[in-house]
Amino acid sequence: MAGKTFRSASWFGNLTKESFIHRSWMRNQGLPDHVFDGRPVVGICNTWSELTPCNAHLRDLAERVKRGIWEAGGLPLEFPVMSTGESNLRPTAMLFRNLVSMDVEESIRGNPIDGVVLMTGCDKTTPALVMGAASCDLPALVLPGGPMLNGQFHGREIGSGTDLWQFSEDVRAGRMTQQAFMEAESCMSRSIGHCNTMGTASTMAAMMESLGLTLPQGSSIPAADSRRWALAHMAGRTIVEMIHADRRMSRILTRQAFENAIRVNAALGGSTNAVIHLIAIAGRIGVPLTLHDWDRLGRDVRTIVNLKPSGAWLMEDYYYAGGLPAVLRCLGEQSRLHKNALTVNGKSLWENSQDAPNWNPEVIRAWDQPLAHGGGIAVLRGNLAPDGAVLKPSAASAHLLRHQGRAVVFENIEHYKSTIEDPNLDVDESCVLVLKNCGPRGYPGMAEVGNMGLPKKLLQKGVTDMVRISDARMSGTAYGTVVLHVCPEAAIGGPLALVQDGDFIDLDVEQRRLHLAVSTEELEKRRAAWMAPRLTRTSGYESLYVQHVLQANLGADFDFLVGTRGSEVPRESH
Ligand code: FES
Repeated sequence: MAGKTFRSASWFGNLTKESFIHRSWMRNQGLPDHVFDGRPVVGICNTWSELTPCNAHLRDLAERVKRGIWEAGGLPLEFPVMSTGESNLRPTAMLFRNLVSMDVEESIRGNPIDGVVLMTGCDKTTPALVMGAASCDLPALVLPGGPMLNGQFHGREIGSGTDLWQFSEDVRAGRMTQQAFMEAESCMSRSIGHCNTMGTASTMAAMMESLGLTLPQGSSIPAADSRRWALAHMAGRTIVEMIHADRRMSRILTRQAFENAIRVNAALGGSTNAVIHLIAIAGRIGVPLTLHDWDRLGRDVRTIVNLKPSGAWLMEDYYYAGGLPAVLRCLGEQSRLHKNALTVNGKSLWENSQDAPNWNPEVIRAWDQPLAHGGGIAVLRGNLAPDGAVLKPSAASAHLLRHQGRAVVFENIEHYKSTIEDPNLDVDESCVLVLKNCGPRGYPGMAEVGNMGLPKKLLQKGVTDMVRISDARMSGTAYGTVVLHVCPEAAIGGPLALVQDGDFIDLDVEQRRLHLAVSTEELEKRRAAWMAPRLTRTSGYESLYVQHVLQANLGADFDFLVGTRGSEVPRESH
């Protein structure tokens, strides 16, 4: 094939012994002569796994991608990487996000790949693949697996995670029977796909579309809808075209693209996890992005998407209403979008969305009828969080956004679990629940335990929300007045480590303030007596993680992985 020479030609394009080796072994898969004619080789990086149920359909979807690649004159080569499923992986999938990103980066760089389709779905699979690919900076297109269909239970629609948290509290409060609870299990997850609420998976897919890394509607179409197969086919065609045009990631992942994504997150009422993941992705591609950007850019954006956990509907309804293009159109019309930002199909974000219809203004609200004003992520600071903490106002209770309360402290998650059901626990609804040692190093892996369940005796009284503060994360499907990602974390001696039972804490979301009402002298005294928690593992991957993970405000990436290293291979093997 005449024309441009691609990266893969240094493997397949010569008459040497080395090229013989590269081609010959590939031929055992039945590849004929003409596929080594210099055409683009497209990697399909797949997180398919039966242990990651949200991604279990991705091999089928990859077959559709291959059709598009063949049709456009490329050679598709699918490869697996470690898959991180939220529902099974212990101790927390987040512990492995950076590990997967290394797997992805080295798999791409070390192989004859000219561009890559990233098959994502369950929460961490998206940032992990994009972080790894960004460090190589080849043309890359994200293909999310899509959300599950709406859950159906006792004549009503239920959503992944969000309704489970509610059911669990209902059982503890005696409002739901154990039998009904068990019945809901199969009703909640009744099709292929990832969580169908605007949890972390849907949020991260939407972030990818806002960044320009997916085709239009890439984040919205349900997994079981045949239009996702068609999208996969088109993804295959598009990546070949991207390779020809050298439309690499750094041309798409600009500062403007990240600013668009932050504003979209506010319009969606998206997951707080997006804060950490986008900062980590930006770090890989060399775009400066801080917590301050999240607060500043999201503050004047209204939450217009009425989806659980902030609102009422689910992803299936959202797609039928118009999906992300309808949201982008609304933001563009309100001058809250960098319209010229480039996307994978070579068009701008605005060209892709300017005519998008909104078929259901209940699901995707008009700008002047939002679900919440100031829907962005609030970044709090104060003597309790000098490097910042986050809170999602759209999922919080209005009456708690300004609150002073007495701290009830849990030293770690085990302490919380062993104490919270105690009828003698000295706690009332005005208290602030404080959980320590669940940050990146403390857990380790920064588990989604920040939305800790309320004390049983208060649930039975009908209390539905309390202020909760921790250095942990929370599931994107969760809700409540929950302060998360407190930095620096307790395990490295952040001020959170010094909080004691009975201290008073001030939260003022409007003023972005989180203050521990304890004198500096007293805090100094406590600091002098503080002892760092002992590491549970001193060898293996967990030990590497603890030594190198950055704090949440820096994206919780490994210090040695930040940045782009390009696609050049330092040495050849033969
Ligand atoms: Fe996989 Fe929610 S558990 S997306």
